Amino acid sequence: MGEKIGTLYGVGVGPGDPDLITLKALRVLQRVPQIFAACSSKNSYSLALNIVQRHLDGAKITPLAFPMTKDAEILKEAWEANARRVLQALLAGEDAAFITLGDPLTYSTYGYLLRTIKGLHPGVEVVTIPGITSFNAAAAVLNTPLAEGEESCYLVSGAMGGAKLRQVAQTAENIVMLKTYRHFDDICQTLEELDLMDRATYVRLCGLNGEMVEKDLSALKGQKMPYLSMIIIKKNGKA
Ligand SMILES: C[S@@+](CC[C@H](N)C(=O)[O-])C[C@H]1O[C@@H](n2cnc3c(N)ncnc32)[C@H](O)[C@@H]1O
Repeated sequence: MGEKIGTLYGVGVGPGDPDLITLKALRVLQRVPQIFAACSSKNSYSLALNIVQRHLDGAKITPLAFPMTKDAEILKEAWEANARRVLQALLAGEDAAFITLGDPLTYSTYGYLLRTIKGLHPGVEVVTIPGITSFNAAAAVLNTPLAEGEESCYLVSGAMGGAKLRQVAQTAENIVMLKTYRHFDDICQTLEELDLMDRATYVRLCGLNGEMVEKDLSALKGQKMPYLSMIIIKKNGKA
């Protein structure tokens, strides 16, 4: 008989409010001996860990540093090093969890980690536990449907500015744009060009201290935006 290999649990811990964690996620996190959390290489802070910390029950916590860079080679090296650390724990026979903000399969480092671990050791068992996404939480704060009837809802990234908006604006009835922190002014300019400024609502720090909803995006232009910022655009009527 071969050695026992632990199972990897990719766990979504929700968007910020510690009450928005699923029972399934909690049960796994209170059972596994080891929990990995992605953090910036500049400091070991992990928001995902901060959200669940109060619920944890003595698991060993290991921060995994992911550099804040777009350099593909540096990122690949970091994912490989982190994947090997997680794999080491699994090959020692222990189950382990990797926690992520919101849902693990929505704009998350978990996807890269998963592919790298599967590439290194295809036999590892992986169980993904979905989490409530940031935009589901924001829609709830706004009491606004993201899509109704035959409408579409596009999920796009604002990390590069307004370009993705231009791509989808013709066909989408509703658009959720995440990562709107760095190029907020460019995104506003694109919304103005597309005549969508009065259809957009900005939400920051949903479920966390400093939560804010702003329906007049022009009032925010020129400001430094926090990382946890998004814009919801409803072409058929504002949120
Ligand atoms: C790397 S993505 C993570 C998405 C996450 N996995 C999810 O399911 O929502 C980070 C972006 O998610 C959005 N985000 C995550 N949590 C948020 C929150 N509590 N309030 C507002 N935006 C949030 C922001 O747009 C942020 O730039």
